[in-house]
Amino acid sequence: MGAGYARPSEAEVADRVAAARGDGARVRLEGAHTLKHALRFGADIEVVATDDRAGLLALLADLAPDVVEEVGGRVVQLSPARWERLVPRPLPSPCLAVAMRPRVAVNDVLQAPGRILVLDRPRHLGNLGAAIRVAAAAGAGGVLILGRADPWHPTALRAAAGLQFALPTTATEVLPVTDRPVVALDPGGTPLHEAPLPADALLLVGTERGGLDDALLARADERRAIAMRTGVSSLNLATAVAVALYADR
Ligand SMILES: C[S@@+](CC[C@H](N)C(=O)[O-])C[C@H]1O[C@@H](n2cnc3c(N)ncnc32)[C@H](O)[C@@H]1O
Repeated sequence: MGAGYARPSEAEVADRVAAARGDGARVRLEGAHTLKHALRFGADIEVVATDDRAGLLALLADLAPDVVEEVGGRVVQLSPARWERLVPRPLPSPCLAVAMRPRVAVNDVLQAPGRILVLDRPRHLGNLGAAIRVAAAAGAGGVLILGRADPWHPTALRAAAGLQFALPTTATEVLPVTDRPVVALDPGGTPLHEAPLPADALLLVGTERGGLDDALLARADERRAIAMRTGVSSLNLATAVAVALYADR
């Protein structure tokens, strides 16, 4: 968004938002909160579209005055017809943006200071995003997603409020080899409250239905449990992440 920025035409912006779907180099940001965090944490924003320019700018001025100046001149109003063609479902606010997808390698995540959150094959992009959001808020170093879910999918970005941009985040098929202490969050482990998690822990969290499989549990140096009332079998994945990462903050 340099000084030489020339605002693209309405048609060009609509084409670029449409083309971002299925483009591995770009991500689609839905809603003003997602755009706000993306901007705060250094995203390279290509275009910002809306069907209510005045409303979006007022919302950003209210929620994120720090980014309004940077983004205001780039917000392009689309006609109702163009907007309807682009919006797949109701948006939390009238904002659709396209950003370059950061290139993050597994090693970038492993080398980040602090705890690393590892989610094993999350099924719901909403849970995945909520877990990234809390990891970013709690100051974790990075996030690895094992399996096929894309942490940069628009739904995951929306659930994380764009905080993928705040810490290195990527997907990988298998748990990488690491010198970090590997801690499994597991209802069958020793109580979390008995001792803090290692500051450089790689924190393994299981999938929604099945939890952590035996192969991953075998990689863990320790298993830690969050206390629950008798009869409750588990917490939601993102809730468990929040409890664990905030236990000693
Ligand atoms: C929804 S739970 C999975 C439930 C699954 N039926 C099971 O038996 O583990 C998703 C993940 O959150 C973490 N988790 C949930 N509740 C927990 C607790 N009370 N203590 C430790 N980890 C927990 C675990 O990593 C778990 O694999």
